[in-house]
Amino acid sequence: MIADLNNLVRLKEPQIKPAAEMLGRAFQDDPLFTHFFPDASERKSKLPYIFKFLIRYGVWYGEVYATSPNLEGVAVWLPPEKADMTLRRMIWSGDFSILFNLGMKFISRQRSITDYILSIHKRHAPFRHWFLQSIGVDPMFQGKGYAGTLLKAMFARIDQEHLPCYLETQNEKNVSIYQHYGFKVVEEFAIPGTEFSNWAMLREKSS
Ligand SMILES: CC(C)(COP(=O)(O)OP(=O)(O)OC[C@H]1O[C@@H](n2cnc3c(N)ncnc32)[C@H](O)[C@@H]1OP(=O)(O)O)[C@@H](O)C(=O)NCCC(=O)NCCS
Repeated sequence: MIADLNNLVRLKEPQIKPAAEMLGRAFQDDPLFTHFFPDASERKSKLPYIFKFLIRYGVWYGEVYATSPNLEGVAVWLPPEKADMTLRRMIWSGDFSILFNLGMKFISRQRSITDYILSIHKRHAPFRHWFLQSIGVDPMFQGKGYAGTLLKAMFARIDQEHLPCYLETQNEKNVSIYQHYGFKVVEEFAIPGTEFSNWAMLREKSS
């Protein structure tokens, strides 16, 4: 299939909930979320609310694409004008059910980690760029090319715009996948108070 955004489905409000449930399954073993919710059943119940918030943010301020209406894979992209996730936009795109279900304990715990990750983002990408905020593929479809379909379609557009692209990952096995698409590690860092590594990665603009 040709790498073209027209071959993907751009998500709108009604698809946020099922897409969030899918990303919750995809990120069930993610180190960052395991840190927040060590208990697997709690993680399973909370992750859809986190992704509901992140996808909603993307639908409002960026572009969110799925591989098909079956939502095998979903990617959330923030454009150059909105690549910084600001507190004001986070508050606007959140809703009471998300806050209520995640609980104040999580909200206050994640604040310092989120601030730290945002500061790394600002330091390494103080220029116009696209931000790959989230990407995930339903576990039953992983390893079958779905992430590649999502990524290559957007890279074709980003390359036409001659813009760089930034992301962070907390999962070492993702680093080589992103390197495969031309990203370079700009910093490997540990968040104070956590035991896991993070990788900030940048894909340079095309010439
Ligand atoms: C990471 C993830 C999105 C990858 O999705 P996927 O659909 O399984 O990936 P694909 O099958 O499309 O493979 C992506 C590309 O990486 C390549 N690849 C796979 N493993 C690789 C490796 N170890 N090293 C280098 N390249 C690799 C594939 O060949 C493919 O390249 P191609 O498009 O040129 O064919 C998916 O495993 C996932 O959802 N993981 C859990 C959530 C997560 O960690 N998300 C990313 C957060 S930063």
